[in-house]
Amino acid sequence: FYLTQIIKLVRKIKQRFCLFSSVFMYHVLPIRNFSIYLGAIVVLSSIVAWSALSQGVLTLCFLKENSMAGPIPRLSPGDPNSYSRPDLVKVTKIDLDLDVDFDRHILFGTASLDIQRINSTADSLVLDAKDLTIKQVKDEVGSILAHTLDVPLGSFGSKLTIALKITSATVVIEYETSPNATGLQWLNPQQTSGKTHPFLFSQCEAIHCRSVLPCQDTPAVKAPYTATVRVPKEIVVLMSAQRKNVSETEGVYKFEQSVPIPAYLIAIVAGKLDSRVIGDRSRVWAEPDVVEKAAYEFAETDDFLKAAESLAGPYVWGNYDILVLPPSFPFGGMENPCLTFATPTLLAGDRSLTFVIAHEIAHSWTGNLVTNANFEHFWLNEGFTVFLERKINGRLYGEQSRQFAAIGGWNDLEEVVNTLGADNEFTKLNPDLTGSDPDDAFSSIPYEKGSVFLWYLSDIVGNEDFEEWLKTYIKHFQYQSIQTEDFKTHLLNYFKDHRMADKLDQVEWDTWLHGKGLPPYKPSYDYTLAEACTALKNRWVDWIKDGMPQPAPFSPLDIRKFSSMQVVEFLVQIFAENIPEEAIKQMEKAYALNDNHNSEIRLRWMRLCIQGRWKEQVSPALDYATSQGRMKFVRPIFRDLYGWEEMRQKAIDAYYAHKDQWMYMTAYAVAKDLHLEEKKD
Ligand code: BES
Ligand code: ZN
Repeated sequence: FYLTQIIKLVRKIKQRFCLFSSVFMYHVLPIRNFSIYLGAIVVLSSIVAWSALSQGVLTLCFLKENSMAGPIPRLSPGDPNSYSRPDLVKVTKIDLDLDVDFDRHILFGTASLDIQRINSTADSLVLDAKDLTIKQVKDEVGSILAHTLDVPLGSFGSKLTIALKITSATVVIEYETSPNATGLQWLNPQQTSGKTHPFLFSQCEAIHCRSVLPCQDTPAVKAPYTATVRVPKEIVVLMSAQRKNVSETEGVYKFEQSVPIPAYLIAIVAGKLDSRVIGDRSRVWAEPDVVEKAAYEFAETDDFLKAAESLAGPYVWGNYDILVLPPSFPFGGMENPCLTFATPTLLAGDRSLTFVIAHEIAHSWTGNLVTNANFEHFWLNEGFTVFLERKINGRLYGEQSRQFAAIGGWNDLEEVVNTLGADNEFTKLNPDLTGSDPDDAFSSIPYEKGSVFLWYLSDIVGNEDFEEWLKTYIKHFQYQSIQTEDFKTHLLNYFKDHRMADKLDQVEWDTWLHGKGLPPYKPSYDYTLAEACTALKNRWVDWIKDGMPQPAPFSPLDIRKFSSMQVVEFLVQIFAENIPEEAIKQMEKAYALNDNHNSEIRLRWMRLCIQGRWKEQVSPALDYATSQGRMKFVRPIFRDLYGWEEMRQKAIDAYYAHKDQWMYMTAYAVAKDLHLEEKKD
């Protein structure tokens, strides 16, 4: 406890150092000969200022100042989280030319942006930039263009304004990223599984692309891109694009994404990567010692793609590859076009967690073709994608399997409403993100409330008609970025044209879109696959009620026929019963759950042990939460341990010991979960 207090104190002192030094000079030192002290003050202050500047402490002071200046307004008319003004001048194509510097942990080179004047009187291009050093801006004929970089605002970064000449059609920005770019993670060889080469990956969604390149970092803007990337020998580069004539020996890689995409879908990875073919249009990429396992795990990829095409229309992106990242990747999957990024925690060995791949494949239509115009409409990306993901599930494994997955989703929805509180703005399907970082608003709400909404609409109009509408919706809005209102208008018009308008009269639009808490409708799911889980849960509850008579009537046979997700469902149900430590220990005896390394099962098992206050399980729980960086798994463990006062300090210590191994966003989120106000610096 005292150690953290001291650490906290030192941090505070560091932050206030500029102020502290002058106070110290005037009030603490005895003032006998003022002129000597004045001289000393000037010299010392310069040293302090210089060292503070070089360590970034002064920047921190400015940021503090800034965040105290009042609430952050909507940054632009079209997007609360982007300074860019595509309504005036819009970026229509991006060409990147970058070097990857593994020693300095930076990308450097140029971003050339083709522009289109939407407002003919506009004389400047407004971009987002975060922690970037802008060296020079020119146009396509080499004339220097003046630029200004405003002071940064919290996690939104800075507004970068470039003065255009009347003739400018392209701006060429020479820049470099910062080693602390929030959208990049630089791993040293020790942090990879091969341990021989460094590794770099990006995660740009929601608003981190601005830390990788100067851009209009709003999903309202879509542009194709090309890239040339130079790396040291033996390092392979991949991007969210088609690979072009690679000259591996020279370490120069070229890419082209010809489909217009929002900035958050630009992605890069560089490391010692190998690949295996897993389908007609698919390869899996990973570090050499992981690639075989990954190829086995994701062998169903082509079946998913075909099912998705039958539901949503043709796949327009050419190839669909999967990249398995090192364990610190903060998400389960990220739908980077042509190349889904995936966490190694999906490698269960039995293909039981591939629903994440079905989800990322579904984004090829909902999200990547039809895109939310800003992150207040994020449910149009994620709610639709969960709905489609489970449709794929239904096509491949049957309707009962789809229903079972949806039951799991409803569990998640109830849990998140409980954790956030039913009065939280972020429990709205269409929340207000003015001044809010989309990372802070992130939760299962857009996913599960969104997909329940579509389930509800499908129940009203009928499954077949709804599937037809979904295809039409995708075709109608493909290559565009839309808002919730566009979806609503399209749906209402479609069913009016199909003489079913009256069916939609009953929809309480305002409650669904702007209401907080749980949605106004719970589907009547088919509980067949959950029944065995409920029956087993009831046996445990009854046995506990009977005073836990020995010998306990449980054995491995109870769960032998369960799928991994049925074990998860059982654990979720038993968690809701808040059972005592003794019963949990019996459960370990019967089912050996400590030996189960399925990441989804492990999450629920560790949470159950923490809930039962089983002390010996805290270390394994922390090992699980710190050996990977997937926020879905890391955050609940830290949140639970924070709530167990006796273990709180242990969790805080583990956070400090591991935060530098995680990507920025995981460290930032866990710091919040542990109520450590500071950001990762
Ligand atoms: N696009 C998301 C990941 C994301 C969302 C990154 C917001 C940054 C900001 C991705 O498609 C996703 O939803 N992943 C889930 C998969 C799950 C819902 C099947 C995950 O990571 O667990
Ligand atoms: Zn998603």
